[in-house]
Formats: sequence, structure tokens, C-alpha cells
Amino acid sequence: MKYVIGNWKANKNISETNLWLNTFLNFDFSHIQNRSTLIICPPFPLIPLVKEKLTGISFIKIGCQNVSFYNQGAYTGEVPAHTLVGLVDYAIVGHSERRQHFNENDDYLISKAKHLQSLNIEPIYCVRGVDDSIPESIKFVAYEPVFAIGTGESDTLDNIISIKHKLKLPDKCLYIYGGSVTDQNAFHFLEQHEIDGVLPGGASLDPKKLYEILNDCP
Ligand code: PGA
Repeated sequence: MKYVIGNWKANKNISETNLWLNTFLNFDFSHIQNRSTLIICPPFPLIPLVKEKLTGISFIKIGCQNVSFYNQGAYTGEVPAHTLVGLVDYAIVGHSERRQHFNENDDYLISKAKHLQSLNIEPIYCVRGVDDSIPESIKFVAYEPVFAIGTGESDTLDNIISIKHKLKLPDKCLYIYGGSVTDQNAFHFLEQHEIDGVLPGGASLDPKKLYEILNDCP
């Protein structure tokens, strides 16, 4: 079983999402559903639309890209984990764009992950390399080297696998690679038994490319 996690980042509005969904829903998933799980992570306001249209396709799950550090309460504009219960099963935490643009550090991110876990939302915890700390009992770690994000230059398989060993992941933790994963190169990563899935950003915005990546799941 391989995981494909599509991170839409801050892209798409309602009409663009409907276009994406209409194209995606025309594809044949019968050969894919037993070998992969797709976790699609739209911006918060688009989650209900995506969830509603993809409901009933059992291999597709919904995730979000971030969560507030705060619990529910007087935090205007924040989206706490409590609000996401029943909407998402997964949440990306610690993406390098959050660390870079919003100054989120390890302690802060580890708290977010714990809070999500307490509400049964599975964090997909991103690290940039071996220097980022990983929370205890995390089930998904995504290695996303900054030089590879959105640049068209993915990391080498040797490096991806050596980082996995150096991270000393908790038992049963799944290891995901992200950074310029496309429909052209996804199979290199997905065919490795050491890599449990991929996290495409840009390529997930195109339904056809995302479908091709799903087809590369062995
Ligand atoms: P990319 O983004 O596939 O566009 O490089 C991946 C990510 O940042 O999650």
C-alpha cells in the first residue's frame, strides 16, 4: 500500500476546484484502489466541496495543510483542530513553507501534532532533513528537502533513503518523500520498499498528473 498526498497549497477557488473534480472523477480508479491511498489536501475553505464530491471513493481521504496552535476559543481567524473534526482525517504539519514564512519551530509544531493526535486527526509531519525533531509516536513523516520544493529538482534515491535511516523513525512510522514529485518521476520513489509514498505539490493541481502518479503505485 502506497500513499499519495496531494498538497494544493494556497491554490484554487470554488470554480477551479469544480473543474479539477469533474476531470478527476472521470478517471477509472478500479485498478488503483487496492494499492494506494490518496490524501488530498486543499485549502481550508475548499475542503467541504472536495470531501462531498469524493465521498464514497474509499481509497481517497481528505487532509488539510495546517492547523492552529490554539484550541477553540477567542483566536480570531484561526482554524483549530476541533473545527476540523469530521472534515479531515489527516493534517500536514511542519511544511517548510510554514517554518519559513510563519516562523513555526519544532516545539510549536510538535504541540500542533500532539493536539491533532488527541482528536484522532493524523499528522503528516514534514521535516527538511535530519536536524528537525520528530514528535513521539508519529505515524507519517514526510522528508521534504527545501532545495527540491517547487524547483523541478527532486532529491536522489540514495539520499532519500539515507535520510530515512538517519532519522531513526519510530516503529511502524511511514516514510513519505516530497519535493518536485511529478508524473514523470513518481515511479522511481514509489517502487522503493523503503519509501511508503509521495507528497506532490505542483503536480497535484493537475488532475491528470495526479492520476498518473496514482497509476505508478506498484
Ligand atoms: P512540489 O511541492 O511538488 O511542488 O515540489 C511539494 C511540497 O512542497 O509539498
